[in-house]
Amino acid sequence: MDHGIVQKSVAIDWGVLQRIVESGWVPEPVLRGAIRAVCALRLRQERRRPPGYEQALVASLRSSDIAIETAAANTQHYEVPAAFFARALGPHLKYSACYWPAGVATLGEAEAAMLELTAARAELADGQSVLDLGCGWGSLSLWAAARFPRSRFTAVSNARSQRDHIAAQARARGLANVTAQAADVRTLALPGGAFDRVVSIEMFEHMRNYQALLRRIAGWLAPGGALFVHVFAHRRHAYPFEDAGASDWMAREFFTGGLMPSTGLLHHFQDDLAITQDWQLDGTHYARTAEAWYRNLMAHRAEAAALLGSRAQVERWRVFFLACAELFGFRAGREWVIAHYRLARRR
Ligand SMILES: C[S@@+](CC[C@H](N)C(=O)[O-])C[C@H]1O[C@@H](n2cnc3c(N)ncnc32)[C@H](O)[C@@H]1O
Repeated sequence: MDHGIVQKSVAIDWGVLQRIVESGWVPEPVLRGAIRAVCALRLRQERRRPPGYEQALVASLRSSDIAIETAAANTQHYEVPAAFFARALGPHLKYSACYWPAGVATLGEAEAAMLELTAARAELADGQSVLDLGCGWGSLSLWAAARFPRSRFTAVSNARSQRDHIAAQARARGLANVTAQAADVRTLALPGGAFDRVVSIEMFEHMRNYQALLRRIAGWLAPGGALFVHVFAHRRHAYPFEDAGASDWMAREFFTGGLMPSTGLLHHFQDDLAITQDWQLDGTHYARTAEAWYRNLMAHRAEAAALLGSRAQVERWRVFFLACAELFGFRAGREWVIAHYRLARRR
């Protein structure tokens, strides 16, 4: 996507640099320092965007497909074996930011705290029909199905391995109120007006055309229903992940086709659903989450190598978790943050 912005590239062979980084020989403080430098570079690039950049981005998103490069995202994260995530994530397999208020000390507690916060802000209650859109390994659906036994949860993602994991866990836990479905949200077919709540946690970052997506979701909501969205975001700058050098390692390796929203981006797409309330959590909550994933990975390096097929893959994930920790921790969590929104159908 060309928004008329020329990114400066430096005459460095990024392939060689990447091989050195992924060799595992670069000391952690050096890696962290390099990642912080890349974050600072990204901010400088974003500040230099011409006036009207976000408007142009909004217009280009409106004319895009709902999502692009979905197969790449699956290869990069979502069809990676659940057993790998069982080593790296917490007990709920929550692959998204957790919440660390005072008194929360472990990743499991922080997962539970964010699930509680999500349920409260989404106004989940017993007896509802709930669509968990971009469900990952079922962190919300499996937790909430036990909490709200008279509610029915439909967990959807485009990864078959996630669907199989959720179905097996629902059976093992005796949760008859969870159904898991593998489908791409672009073509997902669901009955109209069927859901009291749609909850989407860290899936919108893989989407492009928010307008078309929100129109689809509005069609699935029952009268009086609501959508709750959780995304990571930058406080001012929205930008697509595009492969243009060092600061785009993330684009190439983990977020091909993805988008960093700004906290204001969703406000441009209220044609069918209107934002009734929004909230922000500072980035330190994500930084602490990613630090915990990083420590888990380091503690299970050999098993992770067997599951991923090579040491180089472990190093790639190690750099990814470090990059998330440093990005969200940058300037004490005041730049890249977590944003929550509740939306309701326009009358
Ligand atoms: C970062 S994970 C979040 C998982 C989960 N919500 C959680 O909090 O643990 C993003 C999820 O969105 C799903 N996803 C990404 N693109 C999708 C698409 N085009 N259609 C359906 N699901 C998609 C991924 O498979 C994954 O389940």
